[in-house]
Amino acid sequence: MLSSIARNSQLLSHARMMSSSSSLPKVAVVGAAGGIGQSLSLLLKCSPHVGELALSDIVNTPGVAADLGHINTEGSVTGYNGPDAMADALKDAKLVVIPAGVPRKPGMTRDDLFNTNAGIVRSIAEVAAKACPNAFFAIISNPVNSTVPIFAETLKSAGVYDPKKVFGVTTLDITRANTFVADALDRHTKDVNVTVCGGHAGTTIMPILSGVEGANFSDQQIKELTHRIQFGGDEVVQAKDGAGSATLSMAYAAAVFSDRLLQAAAGEKDVIECAYVESPVAKDDGCDYFSTPVRLGPNGVEEIFPLPSLSTSEKENYDQMIGDLAAQIKKGVDFCK
Ligand code: 2OP
Repeated sequence: MLSSIARNSQLLSHARMMSSSSSLPKVAVVGAAGGIGQSLSLLLKCSPHVGELALSDIVNTPGVAADLGHINTEGSVTGYNGPDAMADALKDAKLVVIPAGVPRKPGMTRDDLFNTNAGIVRSIAEVAAKACPNAFFAIISNPVNSTVPIFAETLKSAGVYDPKKVFGVTTLDITRANTFVADALDRHTKDVNVTVCGGHAGTTIMPILSGVEGANFSDQQIKELTHRIQFGGDEVVQAKDGAGSATLSMAYAAAVFSDRLLQAAAGEKDVIECAYVESPVAKDDGCDYFSTPVRLGPNGVEEIFPLPSLSTSEKENYDQMIGDLAAQIKKGVDFCK
């Protein structure tokens, strides 16, 4: 827990600001020394869209910052160790990516992480509300279905919530869907782009396989692919056998989403990605947060697209899971009361 960690903070800075990168934005990673955080920070250090990379964690941040600082890509890396240094890491950040928290062990659902990660995410939001209230926030910490509402509620209490700027990262669901569908269709993954809606846990993950162009899946294939996309995270948890959940694919997916956000922020047009955001799409069914494709722009979410038309089995999936998603959202909101 953040509060139980030594208070001493240590700053390690590797100034490598080149003139061409000085106009690029600052990105902060909170939880940067963890399993997802290290790989994510590496990918962000290699991103042409990142100027300054600020790494925050409760331990081991100086080592990660020193290591990444030797990579001769443009932009600086700065490490901030300990909770007291987090505000300095976040100050002036355009984007804060948050993988902080504990991962699953075999047999656990993402919701089983709630008791530990809810408080961590709230503490980070409290610091962010003061240090960088105008930043984009990309939340990876599980259970995302609940941690995004926690983050939003905490910013609301501080009077700085902008629903256009708080995102739950669901890109790994799309990444998995593209991989598994490309395998099933014997296509190159670049020729597959599956839309995945809903939330980021088990059956709340809704791959829209009926929308995959040119595919003629059998009912059995739909059933198997849907299950594999929904429970792909469990495959990794089981294979790691107690050593955690997906880190490398999660880092990849979060880096893709971060780059897209930064491209949109820099003015690129037609940046459309699926993301779990405050949304009207399933509001009538009790869900204030939902993932569908959203258009991203300089100020974050510019347009939320509706659910694509659903096949009978997708509609059944929606009907069966929507109450669970609503309960997971409520759990996050109630935690902040
Ligand atoms: C996953 O889907 C870690 O939630 C992440 O594997």
